[in-house]
Amino acid sequence: MRRRIGILTAGGDCPGLNACIRGVARAAYELFDAEIVGIAGGYGGLIDGQYQEMSKRDFSGILTRGGTILGTSRTPYRDMRVIGTDNVDKVAAMKDNYKWLRLDCLVTLGGNGTHKTANLLSEEGLNVIGLPKTIDNDIWMTDVTFGFQTAVDIATEVIDRLHTTADSHGRVMVVELMGNKAGWLTLEAGIAGGADVVLLPEIPYDINKVIAAVEARGRNKKSFSIIAVAEGAMSQEEASMKKKERVNPNPYKTVAHRIAEQVQEKTGLECRAVVPGHIQRGGSPCPYDRVLSTRLGVRAAELIRDGKYGVTVGIHGDEVVDNPLKEVAGKTKFVPADHQLIRTARNIGIVFGD
Ligand code: F6P
Repeated sequence: MRRRIGILTAGGDCPGLNACIRGVARAAYELFDAEIVGIAGGYGGLIDGQYQEMSKRDFSGILTRGGTILGTSRTPYRDMRVIGTDNVDKVAAMKDNYKWLRLDCLVTLGGNGTHKTANLLSEEGLNVIGLPKTIDNDIWMTDVTFGFQTAVDIATEVIDRLHTTADSHGRVMVVELMGNKAGWLTLEAGIAGGADVVLLPEIPYDINKVIAAVEARGRNKKSFSIIAVAEGAMSQEEASMKKKERVNPNPYKTVAHRIAEQVQEKTGLECRAVVPGHIQRGGSPCPYDRVLSTRLGVRAAELIRDGKYGVTVGIHGDEVVDNPLKEVAGKTKFVPADHQLIRTARNIGIVFGD
């Protein structure tokens, strides 16, 4: 059985993409007569017809490599059906290039936006399989996404290192972690790193409660505090506003900077804001992500062998599962406010600012 597979990575990169690509490729070569076409730079490459015929050798030595050998880009889903000044009908172009490349199927590795476009292409009649990557861990119907655990490890190390310097100087360190609109990364790294305050998008905070927590530590002879704040966290006041009203006049002054300023002003303690940013997405995948990426990638190859499309692979408990693309696309997995991890954190005294 011969299958010609197009493969692309879209959206923000993360550790584990190459391990997953390798998993798809190695299993495909093992299971059937596979031809693999690497689409360059995400959906943009499928629109423009940028591709490379791949061979077995291209997938060698990439298990531990961060980033993506295919390159990636963000082509927002909301623009997919919009014809811009270049006059290109993006959906038609992707369908034409799929045919022109004589693909039997397309494997898309990406996050929420990627899944929406994958579903669109599936509804347009292409054979599509999705794979869930993101450090945000916010994809519906999978317990974990690949890239997440590596980001948790990195963010935890950031908090660990902040502890020693915060302790030496008696400072309040406000560390801003990624995660987009979901708080998974901050929640797990906050618990693992022993943060005193954890602020998540799902639980709008009251700055006075944050300040009270820092002051309470002072009364307990703890001269320093660590506040882990998710980049999407909002105060209760901001959360009650309409999205349009929530404008940040200075994009360089992110939530961590605003909180550090407020805490310093009210407590008189020296505060520092730390934003590790894309460091959380860089470098080699951790062993857990290497295994997860491989498992999910191999499943994609099995699905191609079985001719089962219109699905995205995920993990539930210890089972690799196939979920319908149409049920996954367009939904975001937020941290439920009563999640067991939140209860655990509260029970060891972590303050969420609510
Ligand atoms: O989705 C992954 C992510 O790293 C988010 O956590 C973050 O909000 C966003 O991407 C950053 O995007 P960019 O790489 O385009 O700056």
